[in-house]
Amino acid sequence: MSREDSGERVLGRTGQSIGKVAVVTGAGSGLGRALAIGLARRGCRLALADLDPHGLAITRIRAEAVGATVSDAVLDVADRDAVRGFAADVAATYGVVHQLYNNAGIAGGRRLLEASDEELDLVLAVNLGGVVNGTKAFLPHLIASGDGHLVNISSLNGLLAQPGLSAYCTSKFAVRGFTETVRAEMLADHHPVAVTVVHPGGVRTNIANASLDLARSRGQTITARDEERVAYYNSRLLTMDPVDAAEIILRGVAARRPRIVVGAGARRLDRLTRLLPTAGPALTAWFDRRY
Ligand SMILES: NC(=O)c1ccc[n+]([C@@H]2O[C@H](COP(=O)([O-])OP(=O)(O)OC[C@H]3O[C@@H](n4cnc5c(N)ncnc54)[C@H](O)[C@@H]3O)[C@@H](O)[C@H]2O)c1
Repeated sequence: MSREDSGERVLGRTGQSIGKVAVVTGAGSGLGRALAIGLARRGCRLALADLDPHGLAITRIRAEAVGATVSDAVLDVADRDAVRGFAADVAATYGVVHQLYNNAGIAGGRRLLEASDEELDLVLAVNLGGVVNGTKAFLPHLIASGDGHLVNISSLNGLLAQPGLSAYCTSKFAVRGFTETVRAEMLADHHPVAVTVVHPGGVRTNIANASLDLARSRGQTITARDEERVAYYNSRLLTMDPVDAAEIILRGVAARRPRIVVGAGARRLDRLTRLLPTAGPALTAWFDRRY
């Protein structure tokens, strides 16, 4: 059983999203799957996308099992033309798009001096490029819906930097800046699109394992330290049930909150970084040495 499957439970139906068309990228695993099923339970029609056809098919079956209408597409969010084509297909299929969850993402777990240029480029292309591509392609449809909502998944690492995650932190801080800019533009131009940036803390998904799989598939040497780091993340840091994380996000979206920090630990660290804006790197460097 993959990590994200272990805690699947039932989300409540709120009724406020019935009939809306929601797009979720990275829907084949973890948080994206939990968001898709949560949206299905809320009565949304879904357009799901992922690089992984197998994970995507499982999510589709589960969303259809709770009564949702679902379309899906195997998609690399870093491929701008493919994302444009996906947006056109979704609009043609449903005639309208209300919500976009730019969720697809990958981790890269090496220090800057150890990371290859290709690894850095890939993390930025998926985590930041994917969010930009999705937003640009779908925003006209969200505006046209008259009641749009853009939801971009950043991270606690979009608020707090830490050693060994240079590309990841860079991408997630940038997702925050990008999303807040789009929000400002929607407000300035009176477009009917709410915009939300989400900063989850550690969620029990496959993200750490996937970073090792990706490194192996690219022919990188996996050191004992890499494996220990992933094991530590899985056992100690990525602990929140994805269903709980999705529920917090979907409630925040329903309340049209511009910023959602997911998890008590993430909220504490968010407060700390605002109270002591320069303390973050020293704190995470200490944590890195100790653990
Ligand atoms: N798990 C956490 O603790 C955590 C914390 C903060 C933020 N996040 C963010 O949440 C999002 C979801 O991650 P997750 O934890 O569910 O990880 P996950 O690995 O379980 O799921 C990520 C999904 O994205 C897909 N994906 C990867 N690259 C893609 C690409 N180029 N195009 C399309 N799909 C692609 C994968 O196939 C996978 O199905 C990511 O943006 C991640 O950075 C996760």
